[in-house]
Amino acid sequence: MQWRRRHCCPIKMTWNIKRSLFRTHVVGLLSLALLFTIFLFFSHQDWLPGRLGVRENPVAYTMRGLRPVKERVEGNQSSLRGLWKDTAYAAAKPPVNFSSHQSEVSSQGMVGLDSSLSANNTNTNSLHREMGVGGQLAPQPYRYVLNEPYKCRDSSTFLILLIAAEPGQVEARNAIRQTWGNESVAMGLGFVRLFLLGMASSRSGYPQSAIKEESLQHHDIIQQEYMDTYYNLTIKTLMGMNWVAEYCPQARYVMKTDSDMFVNTEYLIQKLLKPELLSRHNYFTGYLMRGYAPNRNKDSKWYMPPELYSSERYPIFCSGTGYVFSGDMAEKIYKASLSIRRLHLEDVYVGICLAKLRIDPVPPPNEFLFNHWRVSYSSCKYSHLITSHQFQPSELIKYWNHLQSNKHNACINMAKEKSGRLRHRKLHWENLR
Ligand SMILES: *[C@@H]1O[C@H](CO)[C@@H](O)[C@H](O)[C@H]1NC(C)=O
Ligand SMILES: *[C@@H]1O[C@H](CO)[C@@H](O)[C@H](O)[C@H]1NC(C)=O
Ligand SMILES: *[C@@H]1O[C@H](CO)[C@@H](O)[C@H](O)[C@H]1NC(C)=O
Ligand SMILES: *[C@@H]1O[C@H](CO)[C@@H](O)[C@H](O)[C@H]1NC(C)=O
Ligand SMILES: *[C@@H]1O[C@H](CO)[C@@H](O)[C@H](O)[C@H]1NC(C)=O
Repeated sequence: MQWRRRHCCPIKMTWNIKRSLFRTHVVGLLSLALLFTIFLFFSHQDWLPGRLGVRENPVAYTMRGLRPVKERVEGNQSSLRGLWKDTAYAAAKPPVNFSSHQSEVSSQGMVGLDSSLSANNTNTNSLHREMGVGGQLAPQPYRYVLNEPYKCRDSSTFLILLIAAEPGQVEARNAIRQTWGNESVAMGLGFVRLFLLGMASSRSGYPQSAIKEESLQHHDIIQQEYMDTYYNLTIKTLMGMNWVAEYCPQARYVMKTDSDMFVNTEYLIQKLLKPELLSRHNYFTGYLMRGYAPNRNKDSKWYMPPELYSSERYPIFCSGTGYVFSGDMAEKIYKASLSIRRLHLEDVYVGICLAKLRIDPVPPPNEFLFNHWRVSYSSCKYSHLITSHQFQPSELIKYWNHLQSNKHNACINMAKEKSGRLRHRKLHWENLR
């Protein structure tokens, strides 16, 4: 009975005790609410430049059909794929840990490189024929149909944009000329924009005469005599490198990118390359792909036959959606490629060339600069990134113009919105009290 009275059922409580108990509870509740508010606030800080694109990250790793080693894909792939027009994107990868696995991967990469150089059997040879890969480039580039040999003659060239485009993509080229490829983004710095084209198949129905006319008008088309197909993208990129080595070896930087990209060239020049600094050498950066394994699914656009590349992993490489390198690298990569069997995956192949040169791509100063997926648009995010993927020409113009007219207060509206929300929360909070 004694025990019950003391510990179980406090029947007689004075008013004072009740009041102090009530106070303790209220203080506890208020502290909890405060903690929750702080948590909400910090979990919504995605407008800070340092955290750009956080929300897009899960999707990022589904690109280009690469799958990480030892990592099983979780969740429903088809819904992930549905996010992209191209259903070939295959697998998810957890966020990259920049500091781990490096040595492991690069040594693995060299193993892959060796096998890529030496494998030779009949099976492989039939694959070569089918995919038009596995061969080696002749030291002489493919014959030029359209060239701009004097593009670099006058000024010192700071940045060359090499943009892979299909012959028929005239709309995309025009959109790029008006937006991120417009020379006026780098006034007086020496900015060269080049579209890399192969030959249209007669089936595509796009007339060569139209390309010639476009070239006469804009002087920004390099066209060479190889078939312009997806499997020939490696040839296209290497031809671009060869062009730089041949006609513009003094260029300080080169960016290789695609015609469906949004590239914030201004941010690239001012914040990453920084014209005021001394030139870098042996420099290569972009969206780093570390520890990826070859896609062995035969239906995939990114299928890599084991006969062609047998190693478990690719060496570290930069996503082909957009990478940047110092001008001296163009010739080095081209020369290295002459002794490495060609693979159809352009970005992987350039990574193999870099591994052979023993030059490691460097991570960009912040991991949200280069995105090989589409970052949802906001002027704040787009004023702090370099690449975003999958843009129709009309979208490119729309967003570019929006960004230009909001350039100087790109993040102000965001901040206002946030502080508005905060104020609202605070009021709410005060009403509670
Ligand atoms: C995955 O998603 C697709 C469409 O979103 C649906 O048709 C399919 O049944 C789902 N599969 C699983 C295993 O949930
Ligand atoms: C990244 O890897 C390094 C070395 O393995 C490890 O020490 C570090 O904790 C890892 N970081 C994260 C965020 O996983
Ligand atoms: C690969 O095979 C071809 C023809 O089958 C042969 O000419 C060539 O020497 C072989 N290369 C190597 C490295 O074994
Ligand atoms: C490039 O930008 C300048 C300045 O904004 C503009 O006057 C010019 O028309 C643009 N060029 C193209 C091809 O849109
Ligand atoms: C690549 O281009 C070469 C040269 O025009 C051509 O012979 C080859 O068939 C093309 N490969 C593919 C896969 O289109």
